[in-house]
Amino acid sequence: MKQVPVIIFGAGGVGSALLRQIVNGRTHTATRNQIRFDIVATVDSRSCLWNPFGLSDEQILAVVARKVDGELADKSGVSRPSDVEIVTRAAEAGLENGIVVDVTAVSGMEPVLDTALDRGYGLVLANKKAFAGSWSTAQKYFNNPYVRHESTVGGGQPVIATLRYLLDTNDPIFSIAGQLSGTLGFICAQLDTGKPFSQAIAEAKALGYTEPDPREDLGGQDVMRKVMILGRMAGWPLEAADINVESLYAPEMASLSVAEFMNTCNQVDVQIGQRVANAAANGEVLRYVAELTANGGTVGLKAVPQGSPLANLKYVSFHTERYADDKLMICGKGAGVEMTAAGVIGDMIDLVREEF
Ligand SMILES: NC(=O)c1ccc[n+]([C@@H]2O[C@H](COP(=O)([O-])OP(=O)(O)OC[C@H]3O[C@@H](n4cnc5c(N)ncnc54)[C@H](OP(=O)(O)O)[C@@H]3O)[C@@H](O)[C@H]2O)c1
Repeated sequence: MKQVPVIIFGAGGVGSALLRQIVNGRTHTATRNQIRFDIVATVDSRSCLWNPFGLSDEQILAVVARKVDGELADKSGVSRPSDVEIVTRAAEAGLENGIVVDVTAVSGMEPVLDTALDRGYGLVLANKKAFAGSWSTAQKYFNNPYVRHESTVGGGQPVIATLRYLLDTNDPIFSIAGQLSGTLGFICAQLDTGKPFSQAIAEAKALGYTEPDPREDLGGQDVMRKVMILGRMAGWPLEAADINVESLYAPEMASLSVAEFMNTCNQVDVQIGQRVANAAANGEVLRYVAELTANGGTVGLKAVPQGSPLANLKYVSFHTERYADDKLMICGKGAGVEMTAAGVIGDMIDLVREEF
């Protein structure tokens, strides 16, 4: 049995699901993979729980329960060292062949990630931001045997694994396309039924499908990051400026409060409604699509044939030398914290199996 020390940054939706799945899946992971993940640190923005021998399952489940109320550490929680210090502390405690997991949603984790790699740790990330910074800073994370990031794209669907397989078997990638946001897919499906755009946003928000501020979904940056990650994996050193992103709200709405935005987003109902009607007249529906080649790409609303595979709620397609006539397509459910956390665990197991 391999005992693998793990440090988890982020204890929100994905982080909590990950902790729960690690504990509940212990017997399966031990029987099938002969691995035990010892959680030596679980960290949120304000606190850290630390035990170099591994937190007990009772402590881990108590963390998950406390996070529902917003607090990670109880009174026994140590004061919060910096993120980099937490990794350094693990290395100084003699913990080897460990894994650092980034399931935060923040920018600026690079110093932590770089410290982990320098100390010989593997990295598993659901957080896209380090992969989508400038190519000069992000390059080292791509095609790095100590880095896994299946859950950055596709929410647990084997999108990255498939692309890696295509690249490993020398199948050049010509283009990548997809509908990469479950939230925007839901909103587009509501538009299909004739609902106004503002009502579709309000329903998505009420169902918890959007970020607390829906502009984070509607701005398209998250989709841009996902397709950029795939393009960079394919060998294209693209920058954000190479991808033209259509935001679904006007620039002057960026400074409004969330409530003000929700009250005024009906301003674009007529305009979007007209585009929906034009598409329907041609037997098409609107989808929020990302398309990329080595030269750059676009992210935005596009009319696609009704009932075609492209009208599926969520998919990624790879057009390659071998898949020249019929693109290789991955589609299906791929969203939510449980599937994302499962993708992270899959990466952790893969890292141990291949590198440790
Ligand atoms: N949710 C999904 O379905 C999904 C799907 C695919 C990918 N992802 C990606 O997975 C990541 C996590 O998503 P989520 O929904 O779990 O986000 P979330 O609920 O907002 O959780 C983020 C967590 O990160 C913590 N955090 C912030 N700064 C930190 C720091 N410097 N060090 C350690 N922890 C820090 C936060 O702490 P506090 O609790 O103290 O605020 C919070 O616990 C994101 O990058 C997201 O894009 C999510």
